[in-house]
Amino acid sequence: MCGIVGYTGPKRCVQSLLDGLGKLEYRGYDSAGIAVLDSGGIAIRKSEGKLARLVELVGREPVEGSCGVGHTRWATHGRPSDVNAHPHQSGAVAVVHNGIIENHRTLKKRLGEKGRTFCSETDTEVIAHLLDEYTSEGLSLEEAARRTMADLKGSFAFLAISGKEPGTIVGARLNCPMVVGVGEGETFLASDLPPLLWHTREALFLEDGEMVVARPDGVRLTDFAGKPRVRKPLHIDWSPVMAEKGGYRHFMLKEIHEQPRAILDTLAGRMLPESGEVFFETLPLPDERLRELKKVLIVACGTSWHAGLVGKFMIEGLSRLPVEVDLGSEYRYRNPVVTEGTLCVPISQSGETADTLAGLREARAKGAVAISICNVVSSTIARESDGVIYTHAGPEIGVASTKAFTTQLTALYLLALHLSAARGTLSGAEIAEHLLDLSDLPRKIEEVLKNEAAIAAIARKYKDARDFLYLGRGLSYPIALEGALKLKEISYIHAEGYPAGEMKHGPIALIDERMPVLVLCAKGDTYEKTFSNLEEARTRGGRVIAVGTEGDGQLAEKAEDVLYLPPCGRYALPILEVVPLQLLAYHMAVLKGTDIDQPRNLAKSVTVE
Ligand code: G6P
Repeated sequence: MCGIVGYTGPKRCVQSLLDGLGKLEYRGYDSAGIAVLDSGGIAIRKSEGKLARLVELVGREPVEGSCGVGHTRWATHGRPSDVNAHPHQSGAVAVVHNGIIENHRTLKKRLGEKGRTFCSETDTEVIAHLLDEYTSEGLSLEEAARRTMADLKGSFAFLAISGKEPGTIVGARLNCPMVVGVGEGETFLASDLPPLLWHTREALFLEDGEMVVARPDGVRLTDFAGKPRVRKPLHIDWSPVMAEKGGYRHFMLKEIHEQPRAILDTLAGRMLPESGEVFFETLPLPDERLRELKKVLIVACGTSWHAGLVGKFMIEGLSRLPVEVDLGSEYRYRNPVVTEGTLCVPISQSGETADTLAGLREARAKGAVAISICNVVSSTIARESDGVIYTHAGPEIGVASTKAFTTQLTALYLLALHLSAARGTLSGAEIAEHLLDLSDLPRKIEEVLKNEAAIAAIARKYKDARDFLYLGRGLSYPIALEGALKLKEISYIHAEGYPAGEMKHGPIALIDERMPVLVLCAKGDTYEKTFSNLEEARTRGGRVIAVGTEGDGQLAEKAEDVLYLPPCGRYALPILEVVPLQLLAYHMAVLKGTDIDQPRNLAKSVTVE
């Protein structure tokens, strides 16, 4: 996730570009840059770090022009650095890009054979080279963009300018957002509305497969084949603050709704469902090393620890490696035994959590090799690991983690499949089936998100409960823990997650008609047993809310309320199942009137022990 902006019109545009990037920093903030067309051609200023660094740079080395593009980056391919910051230039063309070009390696090879050299580690640079290649053959920037799109696989929203066509910005969208602000004799472009609303309220939302050609005298939309698309701009009456949250009331809700996209980005370029292959660009261990592994050790905190508990099922179940999962704050204080062949997998959204970092250091000092799962590129945990799998969730702003969690689970599932392939515990055809389950998840999550009104109604019904019990078995047990954590974090209602089978050893004593019991009871190998636990809770007077599989009429007979999920594979289920629990916690918190994005006493990143 990155933010892009563009301007063409009669005014000097550098300040508008910088202001616009400021409104998009929520989409990424590890580096930023602008490219403007001035009398001498394209001038670029870019810098690693927050936008303030770029503003300083532009102050020291001013540029001006009335047509330009800008970018604020959340690194995916290539660490945050001056060179990897956008815009990327090739010849007379400069490009800013949001998304992932999945076939960038193939394209780099093809362009390299033609003598083109790359200066960054990004996937984006191929777009700049392709556009330069095609414009050098005599095509206009628009025609070149059309041809380039035919070469690209993946997701993108990009804007391009060329020194040969002053005043023109060409953009295109496939699975990444782009909005065009239509002003009086000027055009603004951006990944989202906030930068535009300061200039105009007339917005054209680009659809997937559409291109835009903006000139000071107007805007033209076409499809990728060049066929014109004509529609009127929408008048937007959102306030700029509302727009920053994408129209959602809170960042947490926005991030819950971003999960289908975030999962697609985490999967992008890493799998071939047809042949059952999984790749990671930043995993330094060859298959021989993976075959020699004897054990996996996962260290993490909070929600990331819950992801680790699910990861244990995935890795043990699929690759048959024993997995130990520990809390960062506990691990190093128990004088752990690290045996030869241990792979340490620290999981951390921020990559800065002090306890997880300490666990990683302890395990490495004792001889483990480490592959971390992180969201923030080049964070300390990512840097101190031997390899890293980035989750590509984009910045998570709400303190209660949502999209970081589901993308961690997605990355763990991919890692488990990768280990299984290297170790020969699954055939290509079996892996291919798992990959299909994973690829289907974004669509199924969309379906669950459509049930938000029903989930909000359940929240209204139970909003006065003082305690909640969440029950689940197997892969759903960590999801019960995560559902309970979400509820307590943001609504301050006491909630406990429990393995359903353990209820009879204690928590059952708490159950009466005041106690809502949420049971994760989707169809699967422990369905019958969990169903019995649900009945036990109900017999004790508990108010049962069940999360089950569509078409399961039995649940509706026994539970007071049921939330249905589309049928789903065993290992993909936890990723789907957590979504209604996130929404339930969110809506309970709305009713309680708590500070949802910054709950009391909590911090997004805990860098102290
Ligand atoms: C804090 C956050 C949690 C998060 C945990 C671990 O407690 O509030 O949402 O799960 O830290 O953070 P990490 O960045 O390591 O995943």
